[in-house]
Amino acid sequence: MGVRFRGWGIAVPDRVVTNAELSLTLDTSDEWITERTGIRERRIGGSAKTLGVLAGQRAMDDAGMSTADIDFLVLATTTPDRIAPATAPMIANELGLTCPAMDVNAACSGFMYAIRTAYGLLETGNKRILVIGAEHLSRWVDWSDRNMAVLLADGAGATVLEYDPNGTDLISFCLGADGSAADLLTCEHGGYFQMNGREIFRRAVRVVVDSAEKALATAGLTADDLSLVIPHQANIRIIQAATQRLGIEMERAVIVLDRYGNTSSASIPLAYDDARQNGRIKPGDYALMTGFGAGLTWASAIVRWS
Ligand code: UT7
Repeated sequence: MGVRFRGWGIAVPDRVVTNAELSLTLDTSDEWITERTGIRERRIGGSAKTLGVLAGQRAMDDAGMSTADIDFLVLATTTPDRIAPATAPMIANELGLTCPAMDVNAACSGFMYAIRTAYGLLETGNKRILVIGAEHLSRWVDWSDRNMAVLLADGAGATVLEYDPNGTDLISFCLGADGSAADLLTCEHGGYFQMNGREIFRRAVRVVVDSAEKALATAGLTADDLSLVIPHQANIRIIQAATQRLGIEMERAVIVLDRYGNTSSASIPLAYDDARQNGRIKPGDYALMTGFGAGLTWASAIVRWS
């Protein structure tokens, strides 16, 4: 079964919030946030729908496709505009799509879960799927809680996946979930995000390394074969620890959290876009895309750019 990435698009709010600005109202500092997370600034605003529409339209434009070409929309979001209806049908409506549309919530693994879902849908007869990761995390942040306020932000990214019987960009996957750790990162109805950061950190490194190794093994590759790692952007120290254990130098990892913070389902496409803008996406190269987050959930995929 062959699947190709045909186009990509991103959208971020205009409003930039720097660490210095957060330090005006919170007991924190630019030094602490930069050293402990790698984040320097983030974008705040919009909604899952508005950001998702922009990213989705840009991905279709980049793919040279129109609404008639798309036969399914999968939206990864942890922060839908409403509990019901799902946000995907509203995005589809704004884009002029009349195809099926649904939300997937796998927190920060959401984009990779949506890619895996789209892969399955392409396997069973769909031709082109618009996959969007869009988040409005700032809405569910208690802005007096320094633990979460310095981390979470808003944004969206999207790609069009197309069935291709002649070859594939998606080579292998390893996904997982462990609901026994559900209480480590939560947002209750009407509440705010809360997290046991240290424990999430510890487990994140473990599941990223484990799922990456399994996805590599399934692909018949080793870490040496990877030109690029496109990881979920939660904390630069998690990325450093995971890549070190995998035997991959940090130079091969794409980092955008310094500019965008943690945008959950949007972080991997935001990182892809940065890699492409900087000429780091090269035909024939292998890459690891890997996410982890609340659930706990995790998802790694090995891709080869065509
Ligand atoms: O997207 C997927 C889910 N999320 C994650 O993957 C996040 C995973 N966790 C992390 O990234 C890190 O654990 C954090 C960034 C959340 C925290 O970093 P840490 O190095 O684990 O810090 P810590 O929680 O161990 O706290 C160290 C100190 C504490 O003070 P004491 O007890 O040593 O006096 C905290 O109270 O830093 C303090 N602290 C802060 N200080 C200034 C915690 N947050 C802040 C803050 N500014 N924002």
